[in-house]
Amino acid sequence: MPLKGQKIGFLGGGAMGEALLTGLVRTGLAPSALYVSDISAPRLDYLKQKLGVNITTDNVAMVQEVDIVILAVKPHLAADVLKNVAAAVRPGQTFISIAAGITTGLIESYLEGRIPVVRVMPNTPCLVGEGASAVSAGKYAAEDNVAMALAVFGAAGKAVEVPETLLDCVTGLSGSGPAYMYMILEGFIDGAVHLGLPRQVARELMAQTMLGAARMVLDSDEHLGKLRDQVTTPGGTTIAGLFAMEEGALRSVLMKTVAAAAQRSRELSG
Ligand SMILES: NC(=O)c1ccc[n+]([C@@H]2O[C@H](COP(=O)([O-])OP(=O)(O)OC[C@H]3O[C@@H](n4cnc5c(N)ncnc54)[C@H](OP(=O)(O)O)[C@@H]3O)[C@@H](O)[C@H]2O)c1
Repeated sequence: MPLKGQKIGFLGGGAMGEALLTGLVRTGLAPSALYVSDISAPRLDYLKQKLGVNITTDNVAMVQEVDIVILAVKPHLAADVLKNVAAAVRPGQTFISIAAGITTGLIESYLEGRIPVVRVMPNTPCLVGEGASAVSAGKYAAEDNVAMALAVFGAAGKAVEVPETLLDCVTGLSGSGPAYMYMILEGFIDGAVHLGLPRQVARELMAQTMLGAARMVLDSDEHLGKLRDQVTTPGGTTIAGLFAMEEGALRSVLMKTVAAAAQRSRELSG
């Protein structure tokens, strides 16, 4: 376990900070090894009450105390926080950032010395322990720094490593992905409501179908076409539905969706 004996501190205890702290506590890390620093005292009290973690309003003091620092403030606040803590960050630490669009190069330029930086793009299902996160190493980050980041984000779902050049693509895929899934779900639900099914029933059935299909994909190495064929009887109902999807050029729309979001991510971080 790469996190054993490590003290982990969050700069910012908002939605993401809370989700990740919750995941770490759930995987068995002692709350006494977890730290969070935030400008909001009521927020800190809430986190202390809920998770038993160490709290402070002093970002610098927290950075001095821990082995792994996780920058989890909104991107527009990242520069100020980085400048404030820069002198306290040590090369022996792992500095992780989830601030969208802020590159490892930019973070390294704020910090002093050869600091191992790892940048991560998580998504909101981290809040329920089902996140999908991609981690990218900065130029001073070694394998063990990446392993620690994978362990932190693996505690709140799945985490994979990608080169930083692909993080905009990840942002347009899994970062924005929950919104795509909600939109697709809504479309299916409306379709069923149109045919007379109560909305709540349609919602429950289709959300569970999405969850179940995702579980089948994650649990097997089968080609997606093969899984689809398993529910597609010749001349049956499913092929009639799939034909309607093809007529609407669904696959082309989905591919353009990822491309448009990735392009926007590049523009925002450029
Ligand atoms: N949520 C997502 O789906 C998602 C996905 C990918 C990446 N991210 C990234 O995750 C980061 C955090 O997002 P979030 O949704 O968790 O944001 P958030 O809920 O706003 O959390 C940030 C926390 O940091 C606090 N804060 C503000 N200034 C601070 C300072 N100087 N020092 C210490 N703490 C400070 C905020 O307090 P106040 O609220 O009082 O200002 C808030 O409690 C963002 O950079 C975002 O790009 C989020």
